Amino acid sequence: MPDIRALHPHFAAEAVGYDLSEDLDGAAFAALRDAFERHSVLVIRDQDITPAEHVRFSRRLGPLEIHVMRQFTLPDHPEVLRVSNEREEGRPVGLADAGRYWHSDLSYLAEPSLGSGLLARRLPSQGGDTLFASQHLAYDNLPESLRQRLHGLWAEHSYPYRADIQSARSGRPPLSDAQRAAVPPVIHPVVRRHDATGRPALFVNEGFTTRILDLPDAESRELLDILFAVATDDAVTYRHAWRPGDLVLWDNRAVQHLATPYPEGETRIMHRTTVKGSTPLAA
Ligand code: SIN
Repeated sequence: MPDIRALHPHFAAEAVGYDLSEDLDGAAFAALRDAFERHSVLVIRDQDITPAEHVRFSRRLGPLEIHVMRQFTLPDHPEVLRVSNEREEGRPVGLADAGRYWHSDLSYLAEPSLGSGLLARRLPSQGGDTLFASQHLAYDNLPESLRQRLHGLWAEHSYPYRADIQSARSGRPPLSDAQRAAVPPVIHPVVRRHDATGRPALFVNEGFTTRILDLPDAESRELLDILFAVATDDAVTYRHAWRPGDLVLWDNRAVQHLATPYPEGETRIMHRTTVKGSTPLAA
């Protein structure tokens, strides 16, 4: 009997008894979508599915993005990003260092991702957990005076900013000129209103947010550092220890996430679909 069970006192749940190799009927899909929106992170257990089935299920949440680093997508399914340290003929075929910093997927687009679906295909013997932080809880935990200060503020998000850091830090291939031109900086409200639930959420992240507009540099840096700390505090965090076949759906409007390291020499293969979103509404 399909079931949804909480994994954390405030958000994150697991769904058992669903088989996404089948095209779910309307009621089963509605139960999963409802759980995804209510819990922000939904771990759908035991999925032995093909990339085509992963794409078919993800598409029911909305149209899918194709990552700007297209060389790291599956050749037959460009909607699937390979988050992995696999190499073929000596060359990396996945983004090995994806998500090694707190972020909300694609917050660097004018229409950031609504949600992502990451499938565990091969896991290391230890490590490689993913941390999720509720940005609703983070907002709720702010002192009232700081909340008031944030409303009306806007921040810049940039993919080239992060890509350059990762190239220097972990040897990630640099963006081509065409890739860089495809992702110009964008601005978003510092606090956004979730378009399905109406709840306010912090919407800045250390991965892609570069500055808060209309503040002197030092003040912008200081405020961002305060917000990044509150946004990723243990009090608002769920740590996911992966099992093979876990398909984790997360709501990029409501959480940010961080991939943790695993032993050198071991292989971790994850496949990610990323659902298109809409322009964030200021809260
Ligand atoms: C990502 O940020 O999409 C990757 C997360 C992970 O590999 O755990």
